[in-house]
Amino acid sequence: MIDNMSIAIDGPAGAGKSTVARLLAEKLGLLYIDTGAMYRTLTLSVLREQLDLSDEDRITKLAGALNIKLSNQPLDNKVFLNGEDVTEAIRQPEVSRNVALIARMPAVRQIMVNIQQSLAEKGKVVMEGRDIGNKVLPGATYKFFLTASPEERAKRRYRELIEKGYEVSLNDLVRDITERDNTDRTRLTDPLIPAPDAIIIDSTNMSLVEVTNNIIKLIAAGNNGGTSE
Ligand code: CDP
Ligand code: CDP
Repeated sequence: MIDNMSIAIDGPAGAGKSTVARLLAEKLGLLYIDTGAMYRTLTLSVLREQLDLSDEDRITKLAGALNIKLSNQPLDNKVFLNGEDVTEAIRQPEVSRNVALIARMPAVRQIMVNIQQSLAEKGKVVMEGRDIGNKVLPGATYKFFLTASPEERAKRRYRELIEKGYEVSLNDLVRDITERDNTDRTRLTDPLIPAPDAIIIDSTNMSLVEVTNNIIKLIAAGNNGGTSE
């Protein structure tokens, strides 16, 4: 069943994409590709180089020269920038606050999409992001769009950040997540919109296991289109 099967998972921040994608990759023996990590790594690099966030030319050059290495194994989500392990650094709130401003640049997106398509060339991948079903893998075997209420998504992020020792407020996170979603949804190039053939899953009141099992059932039933709750 899984010869060259590819799964696209899109959705807003904190919807559960990474966690569910990793669980699926592990259960189905697929490679896992976190495309958000690529935009985050570029953003970290831009912030470190103190580039002007409106300087699209320099940011595009940096994107073209970026030396990123992503682990594609579901249980090892490490990200390297020029050989440095930046797995934690790219999740800092400062990167989260700025990433959508960089990800909306069309030339940057083109560079990232090219890399992502070549990573998926051999099939057998679960790829998650914002434009996977519509742009990166329009021919994916299965497409899922995960969502949840902004409050629930912010709460999930809050718990993660507090656990890591960050001092953040839930209200600030609701605001930041809503702003980032808005930038992602309204950008001109490859906005965050469910693919017409994506199955939409609202996980506001669902556990990770429930979401993953739901997806596995849909795959086993060969259901690759329509809408599910
Ligand atoms: O983990 P979280 O949902 O917070 O975000 P992410 O998946 O790491 O993505 C970070 C940001 O990168 C998003 O808010 C988008 O601005 C951008 N992104 C994108 O534009 N296209 C993708 N395929 C993946 C991420
Ligand atoms: O990748 P994305 O930003 O969409 O979300 P994630 O990083 O996979 O999930 C954000 C947090 O929410 C993680 O700590 C998950 O364990 C948690 N989560 C949850 O508690 N229940 C869900 N149904 C989905 C995610």
